[in-house]
Amino acid sequence: MALPNKRPDDMARITTPELAQAFIEEQVAAVREQVGEKNVLLALSGGVDSSVVAALLIKAIGKQLICVHVNHGLMRKGESEQVVDVFRNQMDANLVYVDAADRFLDLLAGVAEPERKRKIIGAEFIRVFEEEARKVAGEVDFLAQGTIYPDIVESDGVKAHHNVGGLPDDLQFELVEPVRLLYKDEVRVVGRALGLPESMVERQPFPGPGLGVRCLGAITRDRLEALREADAILREEFAATGLAGKVWQYFVVVPDMRATGVRDGKRAYDWLAIIRAVNTVDAMTATVPELDWALLKKITDRILAEVPGICRVAYDLTPKPVGTIEME
Ligand code: XMP
Repeated sequence: MALPNKRPDDMARITTPELAQAFIEEQVAAVREQVGEKNVLLALSGGVDSSVVAALLIKAIGKQLICVHVNHGLMRKGESEQVVDVFRNQMDANLVYVDAADRFLDLLAGVAEPERKRKIIGAEFIRVFEEEARKVAGEVDFLAQGTIYPDIVESDGVKAHHNVGGLPDDLQFELVEPVRLLYKDEVRVVGRALGLPESMVERQPFPGPGLGVRCLGAITRDRLEALREADAILREEFAATGLAGKVWQYFVVVPDMRATGVRDGKRAYDWLAIIRAVNTVDAMTATVPELDWALLKKITDRILAEVPGICRVAYDLTPKPVGTIEME
């Protein structure tokens, strides 16, 4: 029984744990009725939407749900580990973890053009997921997706590759989309009621191509690693000062360029890390917050001291427009 395409006018906004609980019970019953004894496949990225769908379906059908987490090697520090920890260790989910980092990074080697990078990542994601889907084809009849209401209303295409819409005809499953009528804030309330950790429920938006579009130009493993470490420091410091959840999106970008510096009395010729932070309502326009100088200085000092290969740090002051939020 598929949900309608339009949110009923009288559907109450889910703002409290009690309303979330009622929604969960209703959807648990609906999913059980829809899938019966059959199995369901889900691409679990670790983002808010797919994580909430996973937790909801685990509650409804337990091991009949097969979660597939594809680590494309472009995740932020600790993210894939958290998916395994929360879903396999804490929720006892049926989780297939695919370490596909080498496949993605080999394909991306030497590719500098942003749109080509995106296409390679998107196509390879579908290929890896398809391989996993084939392994369970015959045992699985349903595909769960973390589609939410704005995806239906706007269908702006930016998330194309995470909606695994590209599976071949012989691998078509019936869809299970339990949060398709919810807005993002409601998905978070439901996630909390399902017991997901706050860091997962409040996760800032992260593009499908991941760090791939923040390691500007042709990706190399060493520069990607430097980016991952610098980004982790930024996130740690934002969390420590209570800014996580207040600033809409914040991350580090490392372009394919070097700058001269001096370290331990010797000339250095290393990468530049750019801090990007933005506030926005709908990601169509964005402003740059006036971050506390002491915070920027602390992040800068830590990156310079802790991340090999980076000898310079800058803060991007560009609003959208003219700049986009991501730099590629
Ligand atoms: P831009 O850079 O266009 O980004 O100002 C707007 C918002 O969309 C996110 N973004 C993406 N999300 N796949 C995604 O799922 C993508 O290819 C992609 N590109 C940008 C970006 O992080 C920002 O939140």
